[in-house]
Amino acid sequence: MEIINNVKGTHDIFGDETDAYDYVESMMKSIAEIYAFNGVRPPVLESEKVFSRGVGESSDIVRKEMYTFLDKGGRMLTLRPEFTAGIMRMVVQNKLYATNELPLKFYYLGPVFRYERPQLGRYRQFNQFGVESIGNNSPYSDIETIALAYTILCSLGLEGVTLKVNTLGDDESRDNYRKALKEFFAKHIDHMCEDCKQRYELNPLRILDCKVPEDQEIVKGAPKISDYLSEASKARFIQIKDALEVLNIPYEVDDGLVRGLDYYSETVFEFHYKSKAGVDYGAIGAGGHYGKLMQELGGPELPGVGFSFGIERVVSVLKDDNLLKDIKKELDVYIMPLSEEAMLYSQEVAVLLRNSGGYKVDMCFDKTKLGNMFKRAGNKNAKFAVIIGEDEINKDSVILKDLAKQEQEEVKVDKLIEKLDKYFDSEEE
Ligand code: HAM
Repeated sequence: MEIINNVKGTHDIFGDETDAYDYVESMMKSIAEIYAFNGVRPPVLESEKVFSRGVGESSDIVRKEMYTFLDKGGRMLTLRPEFTAGIMRMVVQNKLYATNELPLKFYYLGPVFRYERPQLGRYRQFNQFGVESIGNNSPYSDIETIALAYTILCSLGLEGVTLKVNTLGDDESRDNYRKALKEFFAKHIDHMCEDCKQRYELNPLRILDCKVPEDQEIVKGAPKISDYLSEASKARFIQIKDALEVLNIPYEVDDGLVRGLDYYSETVFEFHYKSKAGVDYGAIGAGGHYGKLMQELGGPELPGVGFSFGIERVVSVLKDDNLLKDIKKELDVYIMPLSEEAMLYSQEVAVLLRNSGGYKVDMCFDKTKLGNMFKRAGNKNAKFAVIIGEDEINKDSVILKDLAKQEQEEVKVDKLIEKLDKYFDSEEE
């Protein structure tokens, strides 16, 4: 029979990689909890409108990368290409802004889908962890969000992360900037790529993200947003930079950073990290402030700020820099039945240790040599072996072997948990 392979741009996660993802995700979640964010789980499927209105018609995501299809009921649906717009749909639909203290502080984790060209660090199905802080316009809400992202990356052991920040200003700043860009690109646009021609009409800011080398050369001479900021936006950005300094969060201002999603205003940021071997996976996380997203989705005018990490990229840099070595899985007890007759008794001991003792227990189901069973116990990083033969069954006991010390003794089954508790308690001291 023909083998069926995974879909292009997707990847399976198994073995040590699963442990790596679990470790990274639980670190991210626990730090978000410390920052008083609460978990939310919006659906993977949304109406296409959530993203065309939310992320914006001029973004590459909406123009080219969405998995959009008609379902059997004729609804135009999209597999979410990001979380932020879907979370805002949830907030508006459930009027969460009206019944809760603001800001609403949410974190989330799960797969997202973008029809991009697969390459290093770029998948069509990948996982994001992120947060959104919705309903407060203070620059300190932006700062809290950036501090959370930075703390997560430091806690994972990444040193020398580059935080790039910029401001896109308020509506007035961006309107003036768009006009200036239109004027500048007017004389070049005929020689630029087809995408840029469309971007010029839809939103000239998007031209700044063009990846075509010849167009990038032209972009280098384009006006900078910093020259078009309103006084209020300038003042806000100064507050952001001052706060980053006080909080000892190193950053660089990148006045070319505009982000590819249309909902941003004021502060935007990206985290970059080059692994020690010099591999660059692109931004490992990014985000910013958004002023009008809630309105675009039919809600009141409440701003928000958030970021998302690409879990695949974070796991890749940790793996490259050998920062995952301490997360090997361990087993408390590996049970070794010496015969078919010992299987049932072994199962009883396993259930007792797991359900009453709370121990992590695995057992061998194969009729194999004792030496092989010890090898398996070693591979599973087991602390103890429990060996069960006919003698032990007759005496309601087991042989308990400390695999590090290589010492063993016979222990009555009703004393086994007590014995293990004593060992693990002394380990903790
Ligand atoms: P984004 O920059 O589109 O922002 O994606 C966030 C992160 O997802 C990127 O920095 C990158 O690490 C990862 N990522 C993006 N595309 C891929 C891909 N094809 N394969 C693997 N990883 C990828 C957002 O999604 C915004 N929703 C962030 C945000 C939240 N802004 C405000 N709140």
